Amino acid sequence: MQNKKIILGVSGGIASYKACDLASLLVKDNYKVQTILTDSAQKFISALTFKTITYNDCYTNQFDYDIVEPLHIEMCREADLLVLAPATANLIAKMANGIADDLLTTLICAYSSKKPILLAPAMNTAMWENPIVQANLKTITENLNCTIINPIEGQLACRTEGIGKLAEVENIYKQAVSLLSKNSSNLQLPILPEGEWSGLKVLITAGGTKEPIDPVRFLGNRSSGKMGLALADEAYKKGADIILITTQKALKRNYKIIEVETAHELQKAVESYFDTCQILIMSAAVSDFRPLQVFASKVKKSRSESDWYLPLTKNPDILETLGRLKKENQILIGFAAESDNLIQNARKKLENKKLDLIVANQVDNTEIGFGSDYNEVYLLTQKDNSEEIILPKNTKTQIAFQILEFVQDKFLKC
Ligand SMILES: Cc1cc2nc3c(=O)[nH]c(=O)nc-3n(C[C@H](O)[C@H](O)[C@H](O)COP(=O)(O)O)c2cc1C
Repeated sequence: MQNKKIILGVSGGIASYKACDLASLLVKDNYKVQTILTDSAQKFISALTFKTITYNDCYTNQFDYDIVEPLHIEMCREADLLVLAPATANLIAKMANGIADDLLTTLICAYSSKKPILLAPAMNTAMWENPIVQANLKTITENLNCTIINPIEGQLACRTEGIGKLAEVENIYKQAVSLLSKNSSNLQLPILPEGEWSGLKVLITAGGTKEPIDPVRFLGNRSSGKMGLALADEAYKKGADIILITTQKALKRNYKIIEVETAHELQKAVESYFDTCQILIMSAAVSDFRPLQVFASKVKKSRSESDWYLPLTKNPDILETLGRLKKENQILIGFAAESDNLIQNARKKLENKKLDLIVANQVDNTEIGFGSDYNEVYLLTQKDNSEEIILPKNTKTQIAFQILEFVQDKFLKC
């Protein structure tokens, strides 16, 4: 029997009706759900619907209560999780600016910055892409313990295609359950370097290596390092002790960063810290080849065409070496960036390199993966050799969070 209490705040958008399915899933799981509707939400859906689905009061007015304490204070104290779905651009703006002019926004203002909030925005693409909306979201994540489940791409009510559709209700539900399972009232603020991964040493590699041809040119790849950085940031929020080995320059973080450029430099750095880490996440795209010869000075255009060929040699296979060196208590996670036969190739790599987990992503889709702020990945493990798990398209921050949650459930629980 669950005894956790969830406040479900519904604001006024075309997706308001989907909050009914969300409430229904949570109630079926025996969570106690109290709903608050904004005035605009009531134009789309009625309080009676939620009252019936949740077997509980649905509130719409901050001055209408028959308890001693103000309603928003009493609700805040009791709640384990606040879910805002759908969240309008207006609600997000009020939240970011501390505006409290109705029951829902007053409650958000009074809600502890340590308790978890799950925010699921939904709006027209232009609204979503509006820099002010994005800046408001940033303010919220920087100041509150708020997980944002980003809208997805699809057909919008305004007859356009684009990002803005409410995330799948099933995914919002899963994220809510996951946040609740972590004893929410003791959750840390995301910026605090203490949490459930306290004491764990996590080594992460990120970016794409560059193999010099001459002092000016190099052989490289399109990896931006954003996925690895998101993993490092999210693991840091969980309290882990992070070392990030990256090809990105001048990053400012509160954890240790080692800048590298070539596969050899990356290998050297990984090998010097591998022994002391419990988890290694190799998300860097390490070049398989490098020029056999590096020219000491810039190769001139005038060089004769027949001289212009570039013999390559193989780089060391870092993952393969680490797979062999890995100790019982270490978790080795690799990435597979593939353009063809994604799952088969990833499974082969998982097995050949003795990885515990492989994160596979398709690299020929320009909307996700290399360079993008978004990703969509499959997770494959050796453990039960079961079906791959898909983490549908989402920001790299959210994908990183979900990967770490998966690692936690699969490998870190006794
Ligand atoms: C038909 C219709 C659909 C709307 N859909 C959305 C939406 O999906 N997302 C959004 O941010 N605003 C949407 N709006 C605008 C909001 O309803 C409006 O900004 C309102 O002030 C939000 O109030 P609330 O945040 O207090 O619920 C819609 C408006 C109308 C008339």
